Amino acid sequence: MTDTTALLQKYADQHCSEESDALKFIAKATHEELQYADMLSGKQVAGLLRLLIQTGGFKSVLEVGMFTGYATTAMAEALPADGHITTLEMNTLYAGIAARGFKVAGVEDKITVIMGSARETVLNIEGSFDLIFLDADKQWYPEYYRVLKPRLRSGGLLVSDNVFWYGGVLELEDRKSRAIHAFNEMLHEDEDMEVVMLGIRDGLSIARKR
Ligand SMILES: C[S@@+](CC[C@H](N)C(=O)[O-])C[C@H]1O[C@@H](n2cnc3c(N)ncnc32)[C@H](O)[C@@H]1O
Repeated sequence: MTDTTALLQKYADQHCSEESDALKFIAKATHEELQYADMLSGKQVAGLLRLLIQTGGFKSVLEVGMFTGYATTAMAEALPADGHITTLEMNTLYAGIAARGFKVAGVEDKITVIMGSARETVLNIEGSFDLIFLDADKQWYPEYYRVLKPRLRSGGLLVSDNVFWYGGVLELEDRKSRAIHAFNEMLHEDEDMEVVMLGIRDGLSIARKR
């Protein structure tokens, strides 16, 4: 990242709306208790998810990859009282921080956490979702897309993070870069989907199922 890009990212964060106390709690705990906090989605991505949920009047969300629950909490705060998020995670340390954050936010009742490998979990996911946030296990993105597309309701959104893979999609030198590129191509070529790819952070695509 060039100096100007880094400064603009900071500037963008500074001009997003203030985080709730629960989101501040999760960000602080993540930075203090874990060696790597860079997986946390942050104000731009989580803020956009909130706006999409609010403007779309969405009620049912599936998140693949919860980490410490930053985006989960942001989305839960934006959902109406009868809204619900199912989120998938396999790391109990991360899930412990998330659980504390959900309590601070008072959103525990809106969230179901399914622990274990999301590759397995998605095979048994039922129902239909207004929004699916894909944010884990990047080399499996094409497979998640194949399995979860039928679970996205017509008019619903698939939001996928890290679609640039830190520039790797331009060089295609490693497995994850090739998988993410394959996923981006699948979405682009799928006539059922209307896609916009944004340069937020490490790339975020938003696809609406027609
Ligand atoms: C980028 S982080 C998610 C960030 C989170 N959505 C947020 O907004 O802060 C990816 C998470 O997916 C989890 N993960 C990776 N592979 C997984 C798998 N196969 N099954 C379940 N969770 C997985 C990791 O443990 C990590 O917590």
